[in-house]
Amino acid sequence: MKGIIMAGGSGSRLKPLTGVLSKQLLPVYNKPMIYYPLSVLMLAGIRDILLISSPHHLHLFRALLGDGSRLGLRLDYAEQEHPGGIAEAFLIGADHIGDDAVTLVLGDNLFHGPGFSAMLRDRAGRLDGCTIFGYPVRDPQRYGVAEVDDAGRLVSIEEKPRRPRSDLAVTGLYMYDNDVVGIARGLTPSARGELEITDINQVYMDRGRAELLRLGRGFVWLDTGTHDALLEAGQYVQILEQRQSVRIACVEEIAYRMGFIGTGQLLRLGREHADTDYGTYLVDLAERATDGRRVPDVPPPDLVADPTGLPSLAAPAPGS
Ligand code: TTP
Repeated sequence: MKGIIMAGGSGSRLKPLTGVLSKQLLPVYNKPMIYYPLSVLMLAGIRDILLISSPHHLHLFRALLGDGSRLGLRLDYAEQEHPGGIAEAFLIGADHIGDDAVTLVLGDNLFHGPGFSAMLRDRAGRLDGCTIFGYPVRDPQRYGVAEVDDAGRLVSIEEKPRRPRSDLAVTGLYMYDNDVVGIARGLTPSARGELEITDINQVYMDRGRAELLRLGRGFVWLDTGTHDALLEAGQYVQILEQRQSVRIACVEEIAYRMGFIGTGQLLRLGREHADTDYGTYLVDLAERATDGRRVPDVPPPDLVADPTGLPSLAAPAPGS
């Protein structure tokens, strides 16, 4: 399974914040927005990831994340000349996808909830066609709204319907088999001049190969596309991190727990931010993982899923 993060777009609703900066590099509390969708792909077990952004922002993402090797990832970058629609990801990313399946996540979406990692890995392991993720919202009229049959198969998606057939908003996370590249090649731009992800999903629906997974109660899905939404997302992360002293979308921690890096690398990454709470958290994690002893390159633990779906810290990870 390959991964793609769509981090282009025009960010017009966030002007003037996005006058110069990329939306997906704006802070969500204590980390750049892009960490949140990146962490989703990592939790799904995906290590080979393409980040797509506009020509004038791409170098900033590269400066931030490099080739990904520090996190045990392989990160590639590609330009989207103009915001020509989310489905363009599969044309720009066709070589990256190759013969694989692919998970696409939008660069401004934040997901958080118990069991998310296990759920993603489970789906990625037995994907048949496409899986999209629905989230019950109070105001479905503002979103793409999904209708499902009793078997959980996706029947329809309507964009911002006046009379929604359900309360399930379609989130910015999609898993597709390899057919998606061919389907994207056959698309024509919509009335607003974009290649629409909904048109891709429609083809899967027509073939009876589209499934919707409902992100239930206790789960959080936020997008960060407006000033208020951005602030609220930051406040959500702040409250949770301060209250529970856990980190959300801490990519270094996730890389460790997923077994992409070992304890020694976790410690090194933590020390790079040594003067911050963020760095202290990572160093502390690495030290706890080695039972209080500073052993930089111990053989890493097996992956053991804990009830939250994240591999447990007690178990060391393969590869350092
Ligand atoms: P949108 O919310 O549709 O648009 P936007 O980010 O351009 O912002 P605004 O509506 O304020 O102008 O995009 C959702 C996500 O998809 C976001 O992370 C940007 C990304 N995107 C692309 O990368 N390329 C595109 O062509 C489009 C339309 C979106």
